[in-house]
Order: sequence, then C-alpha cells, then structure tokens
Amino acid sequence: MKARSTDKPLSKNPHLLKWVTKMAALTQPAAIHWVDGSEEENAALCAQMVAAGTLTKLNEDLWPGCHYARSDPSDVARVEDRTFICSHSKDNAGPTNNWVDPFVMRKTLKARFQGCMAGRTMYVLPFSMGPLGSPLAQIGVQLTDSPYVVVNMRIMARIGLPIFQQIDDDGKRVVPCMHSVGAPLAPGQTDVPWPCNPDKYIVHFPETREIWSYGSGYGGNALLGKKCFALRIASNMARDEGWLAEHMLILGLENPQGEKTYVAAAFPSACGKTNFAMLIPPTPLLAEGWKIWTVGDDIAWLKPDASGRLHAINPESGFFGVAPGTSVKTNPNAMAALAKNTIFTNVALTPEGGVWWEGMTDTPPAALTDWQGKPWTPELAAETGAKAAHPNSRFTAPAAQCPTIDPAWESPTGVPISALIFGGRRATTIPLVYQAFNWSAGVYVGATMGSEMTAAAAGTIGKVRRDPFAMLPFCGYHMGDYFRHWISMQKNLSETPCIFSVNWFRKGADGKFLWPGFSENMRILKWVVERARGRACARETPIGWQPRFADIDWTGSDFTPEQFAALQAVDRAAWRAEVIGHEELFIDLHAHLPKEMIFERELLICRL
Ligand code: OXD
Ligand code: MN
Repeated sequence: MKARSTDKPLSKNPHLLKWVTKMAALTQPAAIHWVDGSEEENAALCAQMVAAGTLTKLNEDLWPGCHYARSDPSDVARVEDRTFICSHSKDNAGPTNNWVDPFVMRKTLKARFQGCMAGRTMYVLPFSMGPLGSPLAQIGVQLTDSPYVVVNMRIMARIGLPIFQQIDDDGKRVVPCMHSVGAPLAPGQTDVPWPCNPDKYIVHFPETREIWSYGSGYGGNALLGKKCFALRIASNMARDEGWLAEHMLILGLENPQGEKTYVAAAFPSACGKTNFAMLIPPTPLLAEGWKIWTVGDDIAWLKPDASGRLHAINPESGFFGVAPGTSVKTNPNAMAALAKNTIFTNVALTPEGGVWWEGMTDTPPAALTDWQGKPWTPELAAETGAKAAHPNSRFTAPAAQCPTIDPAWESPTGVPISALIFGGRRATTIPLVYQAFNWSAGVYVGATMGSEMTAAAAGTIGKVRRDPFAMLPFCGYHMGDYFRHWISMQKNLSETPCIFSVNWFRKGADGKFLWPGFSENMRILKWVVERARGRACARETPIGWQPRFADIDWTGSDFTPEQFAALQAVDRAAWRAEVIGHEELFIDLHAHLPKEMIFERELLICRL
C-alpha cells in the first residue's frame, strides 16, 4: 500500500529520504508518518491507541492528560540475552556482551524486517538526546511501527520538527534506529492491543552507529534513544571522542548559603536512582536551607569543558521510572512529576479510572484490575501473592514536571561535576560510604561494583552479579577497554572529581536493613559534597576514607554511633572474599584490563 498523501516528508535531507525509502521497501508499511512532535499529533495518536485498546485514558479529574498501557505478559523488561553488540571483531565487544558477526546479523535482521510492518504505519521519529542544539547533544531518527513508542519518546526525548530542521541545516550525524514490534498484519487481520514477537533482537552496530530492534515494544528494548543510543552507542562515541556516557543520575546539592555542588551517581537498575535524584532532605536540614535539585535520574553524558572541568548533561527529557515503591512518602517529587501528562505501563487500574501499584499507599484499594487485566483484591494477594502491578511497571513522566528540576537542567553546556558516586544493592561487606583514595582507586571501585539482581531485566532476582559502573548491560564495547577509557579521562581534567562508594542496602544479622535510606541519604550526600569541597574530615581505612560518626550531620536524628559502626564496619575476612569476586571478573577481561586495575587490587590486598 502507498503512504498517505498527507504524509509529505518533513525533511529535505537526501540521506534521510533515501534511508526512509529503503527501509519502507524492506518493511512494507501500509503508511508512513513523519512525526512533527505537535500536541495535536500526540492527541491524535493517543486517541487512535485508545480506540485500538492499546491505551486507556485515565480519569481526567484524577490523572489529567494521563494514559495507561498493559503490555503483553511476555514483553515486560529489557531482554539482555537478546541484546547484541555486533562489532567487526568479537574482541571489541568483549566477554560481557553478546556478539554476533555483523555480516551474519545483518542477514538475520533482513529476514526478520522483511515485510514486518505490513498493515502498520511506519513513523519517522527524529529525536535529540540532550538539550536542543547543545554541543553535547546527539541526534537520531527512529523508524518504528509502534505509536506507543512515539508517544513515549515524545516525553523521553526532544522530538519532531526542530530536529528535522537541525538535520537539514547542520548536516549533523544522525544515528539510524530501526524498530519493529515484529507483528505484521495480514489484510483484514485484527490487531492485538500490544503487538510483539517472541523472537526478539536488540542489536547495535557500534562502528556504523546503528541500532536495530525487533520483537519488543517495551522500555529500553523499544525507546531506542535511551539504553541503546544514550548508553550502548554513545559509550562508543564517548570512547572515540574523549567523553563518558554513563548510567548515572545527576543532582545538585544546595547549601543554606546558596552554594550548589553537582554530583553524578551510578547505581544498577532499580536501586533507587530516581529516589536519590529527587531526594528531600530530612526536616531539620530542610529548615536550615539545604535543598536537592534534579538534573537527571538515569543517564549522564560527561565531558570536560574548555577549561578541563568535567560537565554533565542529562540526554533525556523524561523519567521512565519503576512505579512499585514510589509514593508520597518515598518520593513526593516523582509523585508530583507523574501526576499529569504521564503514561503508565503495567501498573494496576482502579475502578475510578486511576492507577495503583504496590507501595503507593499503605492500604491497597479494595478492588483493582491488575497489570494483566484480571480482577485483583488484597485478599487474593494475601492468598496467592499475586502482584497488582508488575515489579517492572513504569511511569513515563516529563522531567520538567518535577518540582525539584534544576534551573540549569537544560543548560547546553551542562552542569559542573564535583563528585562521582558508585552504589550497589549489597546486603553485606560494602559499608554505607567511603571515599576512594584517588582517581584510579575510584575507577577500581566502579569497576568492581556488584549488585543483587532486580526486576528491570529478565533473570534471577536476588543473585549478586558484578555490574561495573552499573554498565554491564549497557557498555557497547569491551569492558576492559572501558576501564582504560575511564583511567585515561583524568588526563584531560583540570580538576579531578572525588569518587565515593555508597551502599544504602546493608543488612544486619537479623536480615533487616541497617540504614533507613531515602531522606536520610542526604546526610551522607552532605558529607560527600563537603569532602569534595575540602571541608569535611575522614579517617583512613584499608578501603578508603571513611567518615567518623562525628563527621556526619545528625541534626534531628537519633541514629547511634553503634548503629553507624555496624554500617561502616570493614570486615577483613569478608573483603578477602570480595577481592576474590573481583578477580572472577578481571580474569574474564584480562587481555584488555588496564594495569592500574591490577595495581589497585594489589594495593587493596596489601592494605587488607
Ligand atoms: C532502566 C534500567 O530502565 O536501568 O533505567 O533498566
Ligand atoms: Mn537505568
């Protein structure tokens, strides 16, 4: 079928036009729609999806401008085992990535994409990762047969006419992103609310900077600007061009004197990055005038400016946050951000046309429709353990709606970074906080991070896995070379950011968390920032600099020195086992491991 005549190309760029034509010939869509990014277009796409049963419009009085989607139960998370880095050489992808020969993969993809958009519209979706026109921003064009992806990407990235304009005017390099849910429609065939295909491919060609995604409509598999572009492809760009593309939140801590200090922090998926980025200080510190400003909750692009100071932008413009556990108690700023103009996926529906998820309120509503469309009651849940919302259910909310969004969050030059924080979810061994002795020791901390698995990726929940820099699923090249790149970054910096390790999740012998977390994390952040500014004290320990009890601001807290000592304890026997765990990863990476990692490990062993 021919494209609708209303859909004239919105770009004159001959390369783009040629590529769209070629991909349409391959995928055979019924129509082509060039996405202008307007309100009207968004409203029309949402209305079309409501009519098709993909979206449900939520109660306008309770949830203005909000929609709800329920995915296929087989399409609920990123699929790491179906994610591929197809570099020319297997060695460039490294042992932590799935590699397939690009020639072989292209053949496979060609077969999958052949006619895969039949009966559907192909959307030509231009997007900028990073503030429009920022020298740190990058541009992509996603061809997708999922209108759900278009409306989500409209929140997560800057899209539409201004991007076509840039492509036409500046001739900036564009990352081509092909996406199909892999569910062609035969003539007359009725569609399902969430089309997808059990055969999934999330493929990256790092040398040609291309992304091909097939079979999934969910999250990072399908919103290609996020993990595929802003991390896997961007990490390749960053290595080649001398910057960093990281799985990090960015926040600014303002003190009562109005001095703001920005930090970036890496935590694996679903370890509370969104909560930390939007933290509200404990009441007494709030009253003194301490305040946290949010720049980003998931991804940071960091680059030295002309003076050699590390600056960061958030390449995204929305939050794709994990819903369960988010509440007015745990994260009022996220709740305010998602109160309107938000898309909810795989949470539960209330009879009033609202949404609910585990942890949103202490008492669940009496009756709900769960994420699979089945009736759900608290009694049923008590009996069967059935969750109303999927553990990886999400909200897609505009960042600008966050009450703590930093005034500089869209600054084209980014914000200056004074400290970097690495954190994981670890029940034992890793203390609440310590500062690495220097940059290379800090890179070692990042390289040896580990975390217990969560629901953000398919896999065994609870098992500890090494997750260097929280980038294991996201580094688009050899992890050993990535460590080397981190080591080398310091050479271009006039000021070296201090590096810290935190662990909010340490447990006591009784299995209970030793640290209350949430707002209380502000006390630790305050010490981090004061250290970075050269104003806080610490004591030397075998693993790094640790604050003494007296070095932390405990105003309004009844936390005791004994409780703090338990959280901060460095158990030498446990650390021996920990170092052996580091070795397991290092053996895998050994041919590419920078010598600094070996030296740092040796020094650590000596100190222990
Ligand atoms: C995410 C993830 O969705 O890390 O942010 O999985
Ligand atoms: Mn993430």
